[in-house]
Amino acid sequence: MSDYDRAWDEQLLQNPHLVADKRSRVQRMFSAIAPSYDLNNRLHSFGRDQYWRKKAVRIAAPRPNDTVVDVACGTGDLTLAFSRMTSGPVIGIDFTYDMLPLALKKSSRTSSSVGWINADAQCLPLSDACCDIVSIAFGIRNVQDIRSAMKEFYRVLRPNGRLIILEFSEPQQPLVRFLNRIYSYHLMPITASLIARDRSGAYQYLPRSIETFISRQQMTRLMAETGFVSVEQHPMTFGVCVCYRGIKPMDSSQQHIV
Ligand SMILES: C[S@@+](CC[C@H](N)C(=O)[O-])C[C@H]1O[C@@H](n2cnc3c(N)ncnc32)[C@H](O)[C@@H]1O
Repeated sequence: MSDYDRAWDEQLLQNPHLVADKRSRVQRMFSAIAPSYDLNNRLHSFGRDQYWRKKAVRIAAPRPNDTVVDVACGTGDLTLAFSRMTSGPVIGIDFTYDMLPLALKKSSRTSSSVGWINADAQCLPLSDACCDIVSIAFGIRNVQDIRSAMKEFYRVLRPNGRLIILEFSEPQQPLVRFLNRIYSYHLMPITASLIARDRSGAYQYLPRSIETFISRQQMTRLMAETGFVSVEQHPMTFGVCVCYRGIKPMDSSQQHIV
């Protein structure tokens, strides 16, 4: 049995967010699927994933010299989308080492000057108030302690900096939700697991981790409780995906961080 066998089983998938060692299971799962991660994304989102990332960049509205930190960057698609919009420093951070060489390969092809760091969202190796935008795409759901990651995002942002969270969501329209569930539970896991030759359970974890994740309302409340203001949510593609944006206030010393 290799290390990559079975990060998840039926019992753990009842609610993967409550599993005590979620962190190491998530890491093992992403190591296992890293080589075919992009292909599976493009195929199983019908090409929508790159549109969602572009829309997130537009919502972040980067200025020409903004510093951007893309947390849980994976193979770097959102990081690189930001790097095309700013001449300031852009850093991609991920705790799964196997994702980063794939990201680096892409950034060297496009000759962009992006830095890649292997670190955890809950403990960013960055100084306070060092960046203008923090983004996290399809990553926050995988973090063990969302509240502590949110505090880190707040800490490293400058006043007036923007937090951008892109994440899957359950569509609210009943028919769309029904069709989406059939696809996510019964079709996608078969083809995605075959393509990735995955035995970690990553594509069984995906729909279950979305269904059991906090609601949109809970997400916006958590952002506000952390201190972010003007919190907005932008649903996309029938609500399959949502982009959240919050701003760190100018006078952040007055904010109570929970
Ligand atoms: C679904 S992928 C998303 C990758 C990329 N952001 C994208 O848009 O394709 C989730 C990524 O989050 C990373 N991740 C999960 N928890 C993390 C954490 N606590 N700290 C840093 N990275 C994390 C995983 O290693 C994985 O690469």
